[in-house]
Amino acid sequence: MTSKHPVPSTMRAWQCKEYCHNTSRAAKEISLAGSLPVPSPGSYHVLVHVHFAAVDPMDWNLITGVYKDRFPVKHFPFVPGFDAAGEVVALGPDCSTFKAGDKVLMGLGLAESFSETADFGPAGAFAEYCVCPESQMFKLPASVDLSVFAGLPMSGLTAYQALFTGNGSSTTGQPLGNVGPGSQVLVLGGDRGVGHLAVQMAKLRGATVVATASPNKLAWVEAIGAAQTINYKQEAWTQQLVSEGKEGSFDLLLDLVGWATSCEEVVRATKFLCPQGQYISVANNAEALEAVEAADTQASCACKSMLATCNSEDLDQLVQWVAEGNLKVYVDRTYPFSEARHALHHSILSQSSGKVLLCQCSASSGHWHATTLGASGGA
Ligand SMILES: NC(=O)c1ccc[n+]([C@@H]2O[C@H](COP(=O)([O-])OP(=O)(O)OC[C@H]3O[C@@H](n4cnc5c(N)ncnc54)[C@H](OP(=O)(O)O)[C@@H]3O)[C@@H](O)[C@H]2O)c1
Repeated sequence: MTSKHPVPSTMRAWQCKEYCHNTSRAAKEISLAGSLPVPSPGSYHVLVHVHFAAVDPMDWNLITGVYKDRFPVKHFPFVPGFDAAGEVVALGPDCSTFKAGDKVLMGLGLAESFSETADFGPAGAFAEYCVCPESQMFKLPASVDLSVFAGLPMSGLTAYQALFTGNGSSTTGQPLGNVGPGSQVLVLGGDRGVGHLAVQMAKLRGATVVATASPNKLAWVEAIGAAQTINYKQEAWTQQLVSEGKEGSFDLLLDLVGWATSCEEVVRATKFLCPQGQYISVANNAEALEAVEAADTQASCACKSMLATCNSEDLDQLVQWVAEGNLKVYVDRTYPFSEARHALHHSILSQSSGKVLLCQCSASSGHWHATTLGASGGA
């Protein structure tokens, strides 16, 4: 292992000691460990000093056991956090892409963290130091503000692969979207981590985007690229689109809500697709999609669920768009590392637009805003 700076032997990290099945209490269930051993990088691993970690619904879904059938945590406690930006401090002996001192973006990935061959994680970014395979990292220019990129990997790759396939595929191995100039795209949930990036990317590639959002976020979602927004709290999006005669209109319907929890709803949603159109769900409604497969052959051809893969080639395109100013990861709030519970709670409360970040105070001059946990929380 090579290192430019002295790396301490211990670090602070947030840990989840067991599943907490009550989502509203999930933020209280992580605790700060004051002196965990700093992980040692394996042959192809890079040890990163984390400056910013992103908070994602996947973090609290992991803590609450939502994924436990498919991705069971085998060893507790574990450190949450899938995405981070920071500085390389040490490298495994077979690493060839990075050097100590490089600024990097990394995505630990849900699928990658739980693959049978994974020798890191699961997750691990809510810590002062974190190891990541070098194939899941991306080198950033030395001069960049890391907070601009930290929220990009998980949400950006999900949006990118759903819309354009890239190196992604459906959970059954089929290609995903092929959005381009003139495509009509409907995004259910266009205001949070994945949604706000999907709206911008689809527009960037020449598509016309319709997105659902709550009333206070409609103007913002239009400002970042949606041609039309639907206030899902006022009227069901299906009714609104029926009244506008939009059945058969969309090339791609991206479900970020898990809106369709029944076979009937998925079949109803597919009526808004044009022939060859696709209904792509990233939000854990695989059961509904399986039911459609059994019940309605025509609809099942259109329906796909997906799990993003942490691929540095796709990440390269995303970083380029951000660096050029064509894509922006909106940061709703940045919390100091010591307030990870508040950050998680903010994400759970579903109040954010864009992403929520955690900042290592000693590593950056980034500013933050603290919030008070509500009645269901409390640090
Ligand atoms: N498959 C993968 O690889 C992958 C990768 C990343 C994330 N995900 C999953 O993708 C989903 C989206 O993630 P995210 O980061 O964008 O944030 P999120 O917080 O899960 O976003 C949920 C979205 O759904 C909207 N919403 C909630 N209830 C609704 C309802 N009844 N009707 C219509 N819209 C409703 C929310 O709108 P408001 O803001 O108005 O409440 C928000 O836009 C999550 O389930 C996450 O776990 C999957």
